[in-house]
Amino acid sequence: MGTHDIYEPVSLACVLPDIFPRVALFTETWGKHVLYKEESLPFTEVDRDRLLASNTRILYVRSGDHEEVARFTEENLAEILERCDMDQMAKTAALTQATTNYLKNIFVDPEKAQDAERCRNLSGHLAQYISESQSIADLLKTLGSGSVFAIRHSMQVAVMSMLVWSKLFPEKRDDLVDIGMAGMLHDIGMSLILKDITEEKDYWTSPTLEEIRRHPFEGYIFLRKNGRYNDLVLDAVRHHHERYFGGGYPGGLKGDEIRVSTQVIGLADMYCTLISDRPTRKASTPEEAFKIIGDETYKCFSTILFYAFQAAIK
Ligand SMILES: [Fe+2]
Ligand SMILES: [Fe+2]
Repeated sequence: MGTHDIYEPVSLACVLPDIFPRVALFTETWGKHVLYKEESLPFTEVDRDRLLASNTRILYVRSGDHEEVARFTEENLAEILERCDMDQMAKTAALTQATTNYLKNIFVDPEKAQDAERCRNLSGHLAQYISESQSIADLLKTLGSGSVFAIRHSMQVAVMSMLVWSKLFPEKRDDLVDIGMAGMLHDIGMSLILKDITEEKDYWTSPTLEEIRRHPFEGYIFLRKNGRYNDLVLDAVRHHHERYFGGGYPGGLKGDEIRVSTQVIGLADMYCTLISDRPTRKASTPEEAFKIIGDETYKCFSTILFYAFQAAIK
């Protein structure tokens, strides 16, 4: 073990006894990482109880092991979340880890986005999670914090859209999972246009505006290929930059020509962009973003949608 090892935090909730991957686990004391268990030894219930008793909730793995651990978290999410029980912070950590890793995977290698089941599984857990959550402002702040914009943004848009949708159509809960999938994938076209979307500086700066404006259609064509995404998802990817009173792209659609689910993704997209620091502007506070969207409503969004949005962010 070199002194230059980099460590990644893992919530104890994700470390399922006996089946957790055999990687070295560390604890942290006074900023120093101390080996807790070598990779050759299994992590057992006894270990877990001991750590819980000493109030340890976070373990660390070497960054080289992180992908394997994140994949494990994703594949065992149902069991992990169940074990978190009422511990909301542990749930947030587990979901953030799994979703962040998924988004990183698909933005680096868009072919991975063809696995619709993987996306559906994560969105299902996110849908369950938001239905139990109290404060969405906190939620949006925690989700994906520390990740690059593309990843954090996609996760935030997924969650925000699901919240607005559940206010707008409480009776259409069945569509929530598709809304979350659409939110996660809405900018997948960016990864087809830019060389490395995970490089923050490249996100908006190097390509021309015209190139960037191709991302909805490119993303749509790309996801349509495999036939595993339904119309709700495909339409949102294709038309999330249309505007209710016209002037959007790529279709220049207006009013009811834009599916309501797509309008929801479009509004969430604008809100989540406003509350993020961008190379060209500083992040707005949620209150400022809310006001900006209110002012834009006469040209960008329907009033009904704005009311649902208002109810969602309260
Ligand atoms: Fe977009
Ligand atoms: Fe976006």
